Amino acid sequence: MRMSITFNTTTPEFLNPTYPSITPRRIVIVGAGVVGTATGNAMLGLGHEVHFVDTNPATVCRLLNEGKQASVKMLPPEGDSIVLVCVPTPSNGTGFDLTLLTAAVSSIGHSIARGSGSHIVAIRSTVAPGTTDRLVAGLLRSELDRSTAQVVVASTPEFLREASAALDAVCPTVTVIGSRSAYAREELQALFLPLGGDMRIFDTTTASELVKIVHNCFNATKISFFNEVHKIADLFGIDGDTIGEVVVRSAEASTNPDYGIRGGFAFGGHCLPKDLDGMIGFATAAGLATPLLEAVRTVNQSFTTVEVHA
Ligand SMILES: NC(=O)c1ccc[n+]([C@@H]2O[C@H](COP(=O)([O-])OP(=O)(O)OC[C@H]3O[C@@H](n4cnc5c(N)ncnc54)[C@H](O)[C@@H]3O)[C@@H](O)[C@H]2O)c1
Repeated sequence: MRMSITFNTTTPEFLNPTYPSITPRRIVIVGAGVVGTATGNAMLGLGHEVHFVDTNPATVCRLLNEGKQASVKMLPPEGDSIVLVCVPTPSNGTGFDLTLLTAAVSSIGHSIARGSGSHIVAIRSTVAPGTTDRLVAGLLRSELDRSTAQVVVASTPEFLREASAALDAVCPTVTVIGSRSAYAREELQALFLPLGGDMRIFDTTTASELVKIVHNCFNATKISFFNEVHKIADLFGIDGDTIGEVVVRSAEASTNPDYGIRGGFAFGGHCLPKDLDGMIGFATAAGLATPLLEAVRTVNQSFTTVEVHA
């Protein structure tokens, strides 16, 4: 369901929208960087009570100077709350480095354990599938051992673009929510619904986490594909941009969102295998390696059942 949003355009970053009435909730944003600040400001714009937590004192100082609630440590929440975890999850070369996430979640658990009420701890950072159910839930369980506070975990990854973070946070194209808890799913849905955009709800955190990584890998693959096309076009002294601009309009893979997304099939038909071989062939003959196209052929050969495309 979409709801209309009226922006007050007198603010430079359109951060002061007027929304339909909402039930204000207590939101704690842990990690007030690009994602945390944009998410927290969007929640403030909706009329929620938002408290930012960031281990960097300079960030906390800036937020306090802006008139926002902020601290370097999470305070024991009074009443129910929704905690959105937005800390960095950098690469360690072989996967995600979860050191900061682990520290943040342990400290959230420690703080919640000293209070009462019902709390949703939702991971907004990008993590590997299974992280919330295994690592996050496990850490919280051990911190909350003898506490009366109730906690459920959820995943609601962020899809904003860094260059337009503030606007993307108040106008998301898609919101993805995953949790085994119906309470968490309903609460998070109510939280993000007024912002509009597609809302996709999963009954596991793992599916929600996977969507976000697949989303980024899809973008990465498209960029890499056209980089390879550029090199091939260079062989002929052609500007690869002019080729890409036509192909994104002519290829059904680009114009039809449902094309090719059913997994488990090799591509077949008259043209795709033949033309892939042809492209790899003439690039190789010209001395140009095409590792992505080679990988496309290898992946396709690993499936036996054929789905016919043109
Ligand atoms: N930047 C983007 O465009 C973008 C978009 C979508 C998703 N993401 C993902 O969101 C997550 C956050 O990214 P970001 O770009 O906002 O990071 P960032 O570096 O801009 O901000 C992270 C903040 O977390 C704080 N922090 C670190 N450890 C903490 C802890 N233990 N407790 C509290 N605060 C702590 C840091 O001081 C910093 O202010 C990452 O997983 C990233 O992959 C980023």
